[in-house]
Amino acid sequence: MICSKTIYADYQATTPADPRILEKMAPFWRESFGNPHSTDHIIGWRAAESVRDSASSVAALIGADADEVIFTSGDTEANNLALLGVARRASANRRRILVSAIEHKCVLAAARTLATREGFTVEAIPVDGEGFIDLSALEDRLDETVLAVSVMAVNNEVGTIQDIPQIAALLVPYGIFFHCDAAQAPCAMEISDLAKHADLVSLSGHKVYGPKGIGALYIRRDVQERIEPLIYGGGQQEGLRSGTVPVPLCVGMAAAAEIFQLPEAPEERTRVSRQRDSFVELLQSRSFPVVVNGPAGDRRHPGNANVRFDGFGAQDILGALQPRLAASTGAACASGMPEPSHVLRALGLSEAQAESSIRFSFGRFTSDEEINEAARLVVGALESLA
Ligand SMILES: Cc1ncc(COP(=O)(O)O)c(C=O)c1O
Repeated sequence: MICSKTIYADYQATTPADPRILEKMAPFWRESFGNPHSTDHIIGWRAAESVRDSASSVAALIGADADEVIFTSGDTEANNLALLGVARRASANRRRILVSAIEHKCVLAAARTLATREGFTVEAIPVDGEGFIDLSALEDRLDETVLAVSVMAVNNEVGTIQDIPQIAALLVPYGIFFHCDAAQAPCAMEISDLAKHADLVSLSGHKVYGPKGIGALYIRRDVQERIEPLIYGGGQQEGLRSGTVPVPLCVGMAAAAEIFQLPEAPEERTRVSRQRDSFVELLQSRSFPVVVNGPAGDRRHPGNANVRFDGFGAQDILGALQPRLAASTGAACASGMPEPSHVLRALGLSEAQAESSIRFSFGRFTSDEEINEAARLVVGALESLA
């Protein structure tokens, strides 16, 4: 995708909306604008039906039912609702929460809040050099004092795809809640049975070619009464998340989920992974030091290339690429002062190695020409900085 002559290689930060999705959303701003919670008239009933249909499509993506999907403002809110929600209804003898060391900042920050303000103990589960959970370290920490374990399906920086069924199976004997942040999963893997393995699954609209401002939390039916809401009000969505549900955004998220249930989804993953591999090969064919961080092979997000350029600063390269190529370090940066990625550090990289690493991510609208041009631009940037 070329945005005013800028090649977009940051699909894991956000995706451009798919025109098919925008088309489905269009009528819901003016013609079908009803409040889905208006119970006295047909306009409201129709809007409610659209929300139910949307929940059904999102649920089908992960093998759940419509009444198990709660719409939120995004994946950040879904993760907060999952962790804070179960913690605030936890019994006094379950006060430990385990999170993988490479979770997104919103999971880590929610867990940290529970530790600093609400009396929970939070433990990080280590990962190996490719970002896979250390299963024996996880197993060693499990007992009946653990309330919840949170492990993302697919990492947003290095693309590691975890073995979710295997992790879930370890938790069952202890009755531990399993929360899975699946924001990056639909683009990376088949997830039609995710709800079988996890009690709580978080999703985001804008990572899957849908709109920003919408996400969803799957809450297994029997877990719903064990969740304390974060937002109180009119009692919408079974009281689990009050507030008027944004119908156009729900329709957009549903349309995004439906596309991932078409035969084109696995084909797209295959094409994108071929393009990603060709990008890396083009970089490696030159004389610069190019190392790929994260796993090799199939257990990696097909669009993710997290590349380390030892001896170069990632920020210098990204700066030199402007305005022609958009990529990122992948690490969250709210302050304007980029910090070395906690994900790369957890994989065992030094601070200097983490600060030499760039995440390139490709997706639905990436063309072969862009791949060639992106690699050429990166090599040009390295030459100008050498
Ligand atoms: C793995 C993961 N979790 C959570 C989030 C936050 O998602 P949202 O922007 O929908 O709040 C992101 C986005 O960066 C992500 O990649």
